[in-house]
Amino acid sequence: MTNRPILIAPSILGADLGCIDREAKRIQESGAEWVHIDVMDGHFVPNISFGVNMVRTLRRLMGEATLDVHLMIEQPDRYANDFIEAGADCLNIHLEARHQSARTLESIRQKGCRAGLAINPATLLKHAVPLLPLCDQLLCMTVNPGFGGQPFMKEVLPKIREAREIILRQNYQIDITVDGGVNDETAPSCIGSGANILVSGSHLFAQPDLAQAVAKLRSVATAANVSG
Ligand code: DX5
Ligand code: ZN
Repeated sequence: MTNRPILIAPSILGADLGCIDREAKRIQESGAEWVHIDVMDGHFVPNISFGVNMVRTLRRLMGEATLDVHLMIEQPDRYANDFIEAGADCLNIHLEARHQSARTLESIRQKGCRAGLAINPATLLKHAVPLLPLCDQLLCMTVNPGFGGQPFMKEVLPKIREAREIILRQNYQIDITVDGGVNDETAPSCIGSGANILVSGSHLFAQPDLAQAVAKLRSVATAANVSG
């Protein structure tokens, strides 16, 4: 269960990048609260996606939309400011990347941006716990980062549950994001374990009607929250 609002964040990685303006409009009209933007550098993950320009473009196309940027890059401290200036509302940086996470999180917050800490499926929660007071959101990867369309790793769920328990106990105001393989079948267990932000790429964009797909995901998520 989560006591925080359930937010749906379509991942732009799953969109048709050949028609980015049309896709931006489709997301805006879908009823989704956030947009998730995956930045990959070919070093931290074995794939290259897009960078600062994509954030700037979506900011221009999407007005006030909340842009949730996921930096899967080796030196997030070096580029954080560029992404904030381009229009990121939330910056998720990886605990496993080559930087001092505490310092990066603090500097993101100082610039008025929401600071998120992302952890890979194999990363133990105990490494993230000391950093929670510096975070607005904890992003739990439910696939190994790098590619959309991978199957959900349900073995991450106990970690999400534990994170939610710690956050509640400490009375931290922190959202928990799940990212990777989220769809109508896997979302209920994420919400039931205490996540409240659902990132979904390939599943949502595979549906002919994005608004209907977002509504369906929201309804299964809300039902799971009621039944616990
Ligand atoms: C994976 C990315 C995800 C990806 C999710 O490395 O962080 O945000 O876009 O895509 P799906 O929903 O297809 O697993
Ligand atoms: Zn992501």
